[in-house]
Amino acid sequence: MADELSIADMMIRHHYNVENIITEFNEKQKNDGKSVFEVFQRMKWELEKHFFLEENAIFIFYDPKSKEDSRIVNHILVEHETMLKKLNEIEKKLKNNETVDISKFTKRLIQHKELEDNVFYPMLDNQLDEKQKLQITEKIKKLS
Ligand SMILES: [Fe+2]
Ligand SMILES: [Fe+2]
Repeated sequence: MADELSIADMMIRHHYNVENIITEFNEKQKNDGKSVFEVFQRMKWELEKHFFLEENAIFIFYDPKSKEDSRIVNHILVEHETMLKKLNEIEKKLKNNETVDISKFTKRLIQHKELEDNVFYPMLDNQLDEKQKLQITEKIKKLS
């Protein structure tokens, strides 16, 4: 039961879905140029939804307990913004039929995900009480 309520577990699952579509994009770009843009748009949409969910189902209910905790939250928020900008740049290039290399973007996203999976979400599971966790996990379910 405790596992079911873990924010970290729920978000690992979300991250897994995001990773799948990135892999799909990379494969499409290699093998089938035509549908790259369609897959990119799905990838962008999934990431936008993912960041929206994190910000509106989770961060909004979290009150950092220390300077270090707020530093982590701010860092995550800045990275969301940077990655959204990057996605818009990639989109422009694809519209101009340019081939894009998303390896840097992917690397950044993986580091970001690892910080969330290994540090931030387990920290939330530790710091929040059951009622607060339930509030967040219910919101995650609604926005999923
Ligand atoms: Fe994030
Ligand atoms: Fe995330």
